[in-house]
Amino acid sequence: MPIPLILDCDPGTDDALALFLAFASPELDLRAITVAGGNVGLPQTLPNALALTALARARVPVHAGADRPLLGDFRSAHDIHGADGLGGIVLPAGGPAAPDLAVDAIRRILRESADPVTLVGIGPATNLALALMAEPSLRARVAEIVLMTGAWGEGNITPGAEFNAWSDPEALAVLLRTGRPVTLVTLDLTAQALVTPAHLAAWRTRGGGTCLRAACDIQATVPASVRFDRQGAPLHDPCAVAWLLRPDLFGVQECHVEVDLGPGPSRGRTVIDRWGRRGLPANARVLTTLDADVFFTLLADRLASLP
Ligand code: BDR
Ligand code: CA
Repeated sequence: MPIPLILDCDPGTDDALALFLAFASPELDLRAITVAGGNVGLPQTLPNALALTALARARVPVHAGADRPLLGDFRSAHDIHGADGLGGIVLPAGGPAAPDLAVDAIRRILRESADPVTLVGIGPATNLALALMAEPSLRARVAEIVLMTGAWGEGNITPGAEFNAWSDPEALAVLLRTGRPVTLVTLDLTAQALVTPAHLAAWRTRGGGTCLRAACDIQATVPASVRFDRQGAPLHDPCAVAWLLRPDLFGVQECHVEVDLGPGPSRGRTVIDRWGRRGLPANARVLTTLDADVFFTLLADRLASLP
């Protein structure tokens, strides 16, 4: 049976490829896309999500969500994703957003679903946290929370913090305390999914689909990372979707994870106790290793299957 799923995102270049992967995957029953401000502001992330959905001809409602974190100010990552969030790649405008807001849609879907629903978060965790705080009884309806967030090593927005965790650490803390299974796709995992120009060249030979071309054009705008000797750029968000499709591609470790909520330079840092040094019970499943070759083959196959 396909996995009932809500995908919460902030498109975002790598979010775009994650959405395409989800649209192209019959293993998933994608019930809604919910959108927050993150990589760029909600006035860009929402039309981006709508445009990507229309390009893939996916019949999935897209809901507007939070334009700022639970606390503090909104700050974007436009240096990576471009001012428009998609690296300046212009897509045809999509349809209108669904009438209800993300928090209401998430709660309605959880309430009405015959089966528990998986929540995948690939942006700041604000929408998911708000929904589960507003109606705590719905936590029992959540099958799993899969988050691209955090790092056990260094961060990418500050020395200590990964962008999504840093964008709304309080929301992440809420999700870590729901008592439902949480799976973390960290920067240390996505570092293993390094997209090089050679990958893009190979993907472009896979056919003439509009989505495949858009995915390659969007990914080509992502600056090669200094952390990886400018060989390429890690592809973060699609790894979270791939976990649902091929869990056998990942190594897993159960750990206690806590996010730093202090005001100092470590704000948003995820303290991932991989070796049990704090003696606290595990509250998350941390993905540790990835079979990148199989992952990239899966991604290219699925992108090539889209219109
Ligand atoms: C995460 O932050 C965003 O910039 C990406 O879309 C990804 O979700 C990586 O740190
Ligand atoms: Ca994202």
